[in-house]
Amino acid sequence: MFPLVFYFGVLLIITITIWFYNWRNPRCNGVLPPGSMGWPLLGETLQFFSPNTSSDIPPFVKDRMKRYGPIFKTSLVGRPIIVSTDADLNYFIFQQEGQSFQSWYPDTFTEIFGRQNVGSLHGFMYKYLKNMVLNLFGPESLKKMLPEVEQASNRNLRRWSTQGIVDVKESTAQMIFDLTAKKLISYDSEKSPENLRENFVAFIQGLISFPLDIPGTAYHKCLQGRKKAMKMLKNMLQERREKPRKIQSDFFDYVLEELQREDTVLTEAIALDLMFVLLFASFETTSLAITSAMKFLVDHPLVLKQLTEEHEAIIKRREIPDSGVTWNEYKSMKFTFQVINETVRLANIVPGIFRKALREIKFKGYTIPAGWAVMVCPPAVHLNPTRYRDPLDFNPWRWEARIDTNGASRNFMAFGGGMRFCVGTDFTKVQMAVFLHCLVTKYKWKAVKGGDILRTPGLQFPKGFHVHISEKEN
Ligand code: HEM
Ligand SMILES: *[C@@H]1O[C@H](CO)[C@@H](O)[C@H](O)[C@H]1NC(C)=O
Ligand SMILES: *[C@@H]1O[C@H](CO)[C@@H](O)[C@H](O)[C@H]1NC(C)=O
Repeated sequence: MFPLVFYFGVLLIITITIWFYNWRNPRCNGVLPPGSMGWPLLGETLQFFSPNTSSDIPPFVKDRMKRYGPIFKTSLVGRPIIVSTDADLNYFIFQQEGQSFQSWYPDTFTEIFGRQNVGSLHGFMYKYLKNMVLNLFGPESLKKMLPEVEQASNRNLRRWSTQGIVDVKESTAQMIFDLTAKKLISYDSEKSPENLRENFVAFIQGLISFPLDIPGTAYHKCLQGRKKAMKMLKNMLQERREKPRKIQSDFFDYVLEELQREDTVLTEAIALDLMFVLLFASFETTSLAITSAMKFLVDHPLVLKQLTEEHEAIIKRREIPDSGVTWNEYKSMKFTFQVINETVRLANIVPGIFRKALREIKFKGYTIPAGWAVMVCPPAVHLNPTRYRDPLDFNPWRWEARIDTNGASRNFMAFGGGMRFCVGTDFTKVQMAVFLHCLVTKYKWKAVKGGDILRTPGLQFPKGFHVHISEKEN
């Protein structure tokens, strides 16, 4: 008996050792980047999701960059992943979309955003959807949207100033949600019996979080929210079908029209997933950006001073002072755009952009095996100051020197890059610029409470950012 048990015991140990060895040393026809694959199955998932109050790049990335250099391997939620913080590799990956690399997101994302969300679509269908979105958030629509954004900003700021203290994170999220929900589905939060936005709460936390679907986790909350929001959207679509409206006035009407065309490629499921993504993507990211901007401006009075001067000068140049922001005025807000760029660069709202290698890639001596995932992260500029000149202090003036000859900065990827560059960039810029215009010309604000940043690794203000807003006396 004894030899048999002994024999199996040894076999088991050998099997486990080989498994462990293979996990730690994945097969590759070349040199894999350095890095640790962590524990079998779990990989380094727990370290990746561990919250940290660091205000810049996630410490998970920073620590490994220090140890292994700008390109390293790891394993997250059961998948081998190459992390790139190398500006050249990042650029290459973005340019190779659809060829060597393809947009790919972890299952947590596809569960929450739907299997047919824009980020998971490729080729023809992707281009079709992107055109639909650009129809709504492209320059022509934004020109028309300018007065609406200004009115919403003024209305909200006036209300906040009478309230005394407001949580900027929460209040700007509501403001932007109302604005986009109106454009998309003519939703009016004050008139609707159901609260649509409630379902999007805890989303950033849930998206980039440990994918454990049990009550109490952020991921679970997120999935529940999706279910409810999707049901509401579905009902609305059904209602529209039964009672078609004469004039097309929102994005839903446009979607319905597309759905009814005979040669259409659009399906109801794809359209609903798209609605859902747009509702979420528009308010959560932009409100985080506005909150970050207000926080940076409190900490940097000289920036606030120059920003205020730019906007006061715009008003001074007008014939009628309160005639409203024109498109030309908007385009002229040069320093404001520097402030916005610097804000989104430092806020690092989307800490990683995911891709999958469609074939084996060789880059700077390393091999990325076919099928592996890649997480593209902004270069951690301060770790190698001779190579990257972008440090981690808030300095909008630096943007004058930062733009390359082709009008972009290789180290700046807050909105992604290449073909999949964020379609909401211009919308965000309009929102932020017009809001800041109304804010700095008429109001002053003081930080009262909160404003602390937490990264999980997505950006969060767990205690909000409470400020006291009051009208400026002239
Ligand atoms: C500060 C604000 C924002 C930031 C930092 C941001 C960031 C990003 C990033 C990094 C990507 C690239 C993802 C990838 O390459 O896989 C992206 C894509 C996208 N963004 Fe934004 N975004 C912002 C605002 C918005 C807004 C306001 C909207 C909605 C109108 C929006 C809608 C989208 C959509 C639909 C995509 C997918 C595009 C594609 O796959 O081609 N974003 N965003
Ligand atoms: C946050 O990250 C820093 C830098 O890597 C580390 O020293 C610190 O222990 C981390 N804090 C927590 C709470 O994990
Ligand atoms: C902001 O960044 C974008 C993208 O890199 C760039 O095209 C633009 O010129 C920048 N704006 C300013 C004012 O520096």
